[in-house]
Amino acid sequence: MPQVRTLLSTILLPLLLVGTAAARVPQDPPSEETIQFFKVNCFSCHTIGGGALTGPDLKGLHERRDREWAVRFIRDPKAVLDSGDPYASALASEYRGVVMPTLPGIDATLAGKLYDLIQLESGLEKSRFEGVQVSDRPLNAADVEKGRALFQGSKAFTAGAPACISCHAIAGIGGLGGGKLGPDLTAAYSRLEGRKALVAWLAAPPSPVMQPLFTGHELNEDEILAVVALLKDAAGRGEREADSTSLTFILLGIGVCAALLVVFDLAWRNRFRAVRRPLVARG
Ligand code: HEC
Ligand code: HEC
Repeated sequence: MPQVRTLLSTILLPLLLVGTAAARVPQDPPSEETIQFFKVNCFSCHTIGGGALTGPDLKGLHERRDREWAVRFIRDPKAVLDSGDPYASALASEYRGVVMPTLPGIDATLAGKLYDLIQLESGLEKSRFEGVQVSDRPLNAADVEKGRALFQGSKAFTAGAPACISCHAIAGIGGLGGGKLGPDLTAAYSRLEGRKALVAWLAAPPSPVMQPLFTGHELNEDEILAVVALLKDAAGRGEREADSTSLTFILLGIGVCAALLVVFDLAWRNRFRAVRRPLVARG
């Protein structure tokens, strides 16, 4: 029966393999839109194969959760948690009560495409969403200084990214002169939950304003570490300065009041004199 065996190996076997491969791997390659959506909306909290950030590493999601569950969760994490879903409750307590935000504009189709993308990327040797692997060496005063120079623009970013000060202020830099387009970054280090998440954030800023300016002009590893060092330093400084700032305002207030009193006093003294002097002179 050699023909049968040939038939098996040349036609049926490949067909069979294609069949099972198709069942495991999503058929359509992910669209550029889906990739971009993940990059902007998910990548700041999730890597695929690069370890946990604010949220879990999504590598192998399809082995943990089926598509239907993932679609529901991605669309509205809080609703799934509130429904008493035991997996979501366990996940939320593992992430110390941090619940994934409900992102607007995700319908079932998009959520399904994201699930497929995560599955496809999970199967790759190295996912494009592994994230930057930045050293976790201790940060020092030289890093803070370098970060300050980069932030202010006295030192240029290697790939030509714009200086942060054009849009941001931070404790100790900028003050009233810092840019106003972006938020004050004094609390960013604690708000974005520390070094690892901030590194991921800076490697690919998900901000709609920053993203187009930094794409193709990414900060390199040393620059990221320097900026992180600056933001960490500013977070500590911000707490220490909060008290002295309110004191400054009170003192400034008292000073302004005193100055106004003097000014009014001078202004009114002349008017009083102008009334009183003729009276006195007459009397
Ligand atoms: C602000 C951070 C943040 C963003 C942005 C975010 N997530 Fe999450 N995600 C989390 C956290 C935290 C958890 C785990 C805690 C929980 O249950 O909410 C989580 C859990 C998940 C899970 C379950 C993971 C598992 O291992 O079972 C999936 C799936 C998921 N996210 C997908 C996404 C997708 C897709 C996006 C983008 C559309 C996204 N997330 C955006 C923070 C985030
Ligand atoms: C063109 C203006 C612009 C420049 C330049 C810019 N940013 Fe931003 N940044 C923004 C805006 C606007 C936001 C707020 C999010 C949004 O609306 O996109 C933001 C948000 C942030 C956040 C998140 C803050 C938070 O609390 O969520 C961080 C961190 C940040 N920027 C860091 C930087 C650093 C570091 C640089 C310099 C390398 C920089 N930015 C340069 C405009 C800018």
